[in-house]
Amino acid sequence: MQRKDVTMIIACRDITKTYRLGHTIVPALHAATMTVQRGEFVVIAGASGSGKTTLLNIMGGIDRPDSGDYVLDGTPMMGLSESLRTRIRRQKVGFVFQSFNLIPVLSAYENVAYPLWLAGESPKSQREKVMYWLNRVGLSDQSQQRPNALSGGQRQRVAIARALVKSPAVIVADEPTASLDSKTGASIIELMRELIRDQGTTCVVSSHDTMVIQSAERVVYMRDGRMDKEVNNQ
Ligand SMILES: Nc1ncnc2c1ncn2[C@@H]1O[C@H](COP(=O)(O)OP(=O)(O)O)[C@@H](O)[C@H]1O
Ligand SMILES: [Mg+2]
Repeated sequence: MQRKDVTMIIACRDITKTYRLGHTIVPALHAATMTVQRGEFVVIAGASGSGKTTLLNIMGGIDRPDSGDYVLDGTPMMGLSESLRTRIRRQKVGFVFQSFNLIPVLSAYENVAYPLWLAGESPKSQREKVMYWLNRVGLSDQSQQRPNALSGGQRQRVAIARALVKSPAVIVADEPTASLDSKTGASIIELMRELIRDQGTTCVVSSHDTMVIQSAERVVYMRDGRMDKEVNNQ
């Protein structure tokens, strides 16, 4: 294997994506190209509508592009069947969303356990991992609470635990602080950075929050579905 295959965990080249709304065609990405190195914490910045969510969903295997090539942790994803793409996504990617996307009828514990249950892990292994991660995000005492009994910051902590519980190669976080006040948002980003550094996980975050942008080593700016410029803060 070439050296670049080892260090590069995500490689997107000339990605295009168009949405169809009835007879209207909405272009979302035009030849977007971006690579992410293993262990990096990269922020994708850009105005609303610039294509951040579309690109993250493609990188993480939720959605597929119309054309272009993309590789996720050594696997060429273009042309894979939906079921194979889903399998790879579940193995390799943990997602964190702006609106938390927790399952409302499940407790914090059950939300974090859900990916492990899907993967068929034993109850004992589920329990160990869930309690470890709830503890790491500071929510051991809230494990039996349902999401609507938790604050926004606590819900996002549950979502972070759920994203990390399977030790994914990549965390994809789409505007993870956009529903939180600035102090809570800062603590969430700090927590993500700490946990991700400890695990050696790669993290791609979209945001237009200045605090998030300033905390990144590398910021890729998008504009109208294309990469506009890149800033290295190292
Ligand atoms: N499901 C969808 N159906 C139709 N158009 C969409 C859909 N999702 C996004 N778009 C459009 O694609 C473009 C890029 O959107 P998006 O990727 O959500 O950008 P961002 O996350 O930067 O706000 C925008 O013009 C948006 O309106
Ligand atoms: Mg978005």
